[in-house]
Amino acid sequence: MSSAARTPDRHPGLHDSAFLKAARGEAVPHTPVWYMRQAGRSLPEYLRVREGIGMLESCMDADLVTEITLQPVRRYGVDAAIFFSDIVLPLKAVGVDLDIKPGIGPVVASPVRTLADVEAIPDLTAEHVPFITAAVRALVGELGATPLIGFAGAPFTVASYLVEGGPSKEHAKTKAMMFGAPDVWDALMRKIAGIAAAYLTVQVEAGASAVQLFDSWAGALTPADYRQHVMPHSTRVLAAAGELGVPRIHFGVGTSNLLPLMGEAGADVVGVDWRTPLDSAIPLVGDRGVQGNLDPTLVFAPTDVMTARAAEVIEAGRAAKGHIFNLGHGVIPSTDPAQLERLTEFVQSYPLD
Ligand code: CP3
Repeated sequence: MSSAARTPDRHPGLHDSAFLKAARGEAVPHTPVWYMRQAGRSLPEYLRVREGIGMLESCMDADLVTEITLQPVRRYGVDAAIFFSDIVLPLKAVGVDLDIKPGIGPVVASPVRTLADVEAIPDLTAEHVPFITAAVRALVGELGATPLIGFAGAPFTVASYLVEGGPSKEHAKTKAMMFGAPDVWDALMRKIAGIAAAYLTVQVEAGASAVQLFDSWAGALTPADYRQHVMPHSTRVLAAAGELGVPRIHFGVGTSNLLPLMGEAGADVVGVDWRTPLDSAIPLVGDRGVQGNLDPTLVFAPTDVMTARAAEVIEAGRAAKGHIFNLGHGVIPSTDPAQLERLTEFVQSYPLD
């Protein structure tokens, strides 16, 4: 059964949205644009509704999730919404003791070290995340023909938070487990992949029309290690989303050497950070679309400098099977929303013929 059949209340214009067309590699009326971390601290209306409410607490409040997800769509008129949540939310939902600390990121109370630690993490079912189902359903109704992107953290990136206990530059403990305790590593990656697949399934069944798998820290790996220790698990997650019939975007940071493998893992669109020019990335991803990749600091440049660089990104993207415009990583919190508004307008009105 197709995902469309599961969600009969989808807007008739959704299928023909520029975002979904580009994700499928079809011709588009304009280059679709959205921004990673578009819902968040760069928006005054976000800071207002979040006042006095913890990050994870707000992710578990369906009304707040709905409001925060819609804020950048209202302000910028972007071509897609991304569901407001975090990559560690599903772990919190199954009972892992963790928090998201402002200015730091996810912090895990008891880092995972042994097979017993892995086995103590429950698998995720829809009953763990009723607020997700409720928020996605509400959003799909509000968004009409604007697609909602569901997302999950990829097994390697989520494993890094679980094993390190918090953010890490080197991912040394994580890679020590990968190299030195392959049985524990395999069990952990299977556990996280199962949770991510279940989490994406909940979002798609409730109405999300595309998914993005964030493997933000995969760039720490050599291609051989990625292929052997990580890729099979990400492949399982992407395959689960593929079975639901929605396009899959696969993104990482510093992954120029992994782009072919990230595509092969089962992506329809490969996200490219700003360090790799799109014209070098496109031949590497094969018969797939690309997403990206304006340097997120360019929004701090004069508008004409920013738009000239955006034009280069759009022009380079034309050689791809499909191109979704984005920043090369998330919106920096001090970004001026007015500048993103100008960027959105520029991309959407850039002539393609
Ligand atoms: O893109 C969106 O607008 C949707 C929301 C979203 C958040 N996190 C909200 C958030 C998404 C897609 C994420 C994914 C995420 N979370 C990733 C992958 C994407 C990436 O940036 O590479 C990662 C690595 C995390 C882990 C995480 N959560 C970090 C590193 C941080 C930042 C810590 C900080 O305060 O500097 C978070 C917290 C977080 N996630 C915030 C938001 C809006 C900030 C929390 C706040 O407002 O207090």
